Amino acid sequence: MGEIVHKPVLLDEVISFLLPYQDGVVVDATVGEGGHSTAILDKIRPAKLVALDRDIEILTVARERLSGFSNVIFLYGNYSNLPELLAKEGIETVDAVLMDLGISSFHLEDPERGFSFAEKGPLDMRLDRVGTSLTAFEVVNEWSEKRLREIIREYGEEPWAKRIARRIVEYRKERKIKTTHELADIVKSAVPKRYWPKRIHVATRTFQAIRIAVNDELTHLKEALKRIVDILSPGGRILVISFHSLEDRIVKHSFKKFEEKGLGKVLTKKPIVPTDDEIRENPRSRSAKLRVFERSGSLEGE
Ligand SMILES: C[S@@+](CC[C@H](N)C(=O)[O-])C[C@H]1O[C@@H](n2cnc3c(N)ncnc32)[C@H](O)[C@@H]1O
Repeated sequence: MGEIVHKPVLLDEVISFLLPYQDGVVVDATVGEGGHSTAILDKIRPAKLVALDRDIEILTVARERLSGFSNVIFLYGNYSNLPELLAKEGIETVDAVLMDLGISSFHLEDPERGFSFAEKGPLDMRLDRVGTSLTAFEVVNEWSEKRLREIIREYGEEPWAKRIARRIVEYRKERKIKTTHELADIVKSAVPKRYWPKRIHVATRTFQAIRIAVNDELTHLKEALKRIVDILSPGGRILVISFHSLEDRIVKHSFKKFEEKGLGKVLTKKPIVPTDDEIRENPRSRSAKLRVFERSGSLEGE
């Protein structure tokens, strides 16, 4: 097994929101390399932990890391299908669900997966290389200029979307865009150097946009929240950690809607963000926001 590099974010905060579920069924719907799950198993000791991921490759890492625990069920699938996946295991309701959105260091650090501009790799970006076929290669080489402009603007919140989309289309008239480095260079050439952002790489937003499109991330997030709230037991909680404003907006609005429908209450009027210490130790955590929703009713036996 490779070295474990992904540091779980907002870990203490997540654990404190899960404390009431010591004997319950807890779902880590984005188990990744198992950082949060390890702490949940150690500190919460739920009766059962369901560890789900859309990436069958990262599930192997989680399986190995959590092999010392006998109360874990591993599931490969999309969190938007959580109710069906659980039903197959005979589970109808759960006490808590954690969703730590996005990708893991495991993905970023493997050039073959094509998520990173730091190293040269094929334009893939699929989280699920077994069950899905759309790749970043297809998006950048086949989607229309208009569609590219829209996703780069909408999913990347990139002010230079128009120029980047145009430059992609001009480039591919000559030859196919095959690698992450070629795409990063195209973005660099489309944005005047004096406007390059200071804190992030100039291609960060474009890569984020294409990744979101390839994995249809926002659709799955909306669908998942809507469906998960229905399988929470009374007093159960859903915890979501998001990393950019598009995701956070979806979480905030969904939770607000659940509250308006009388399904329960939002426990985090303002999102919980990492402390300065955590950001210093783990810069990747800097944009993390945790929101928590609790279903009405009380926990069994209380
Ligand atoms: C930020 S990582 C999770 C890291 C984990 N909490 C840890 O501490 O090691 C996000 C994980 O969610 C998975 N993922 C993303 N979208 C998903 C979806 N729609 N359904 C299930 N898993 C998903 C990714 O494959 C990735 O492994």
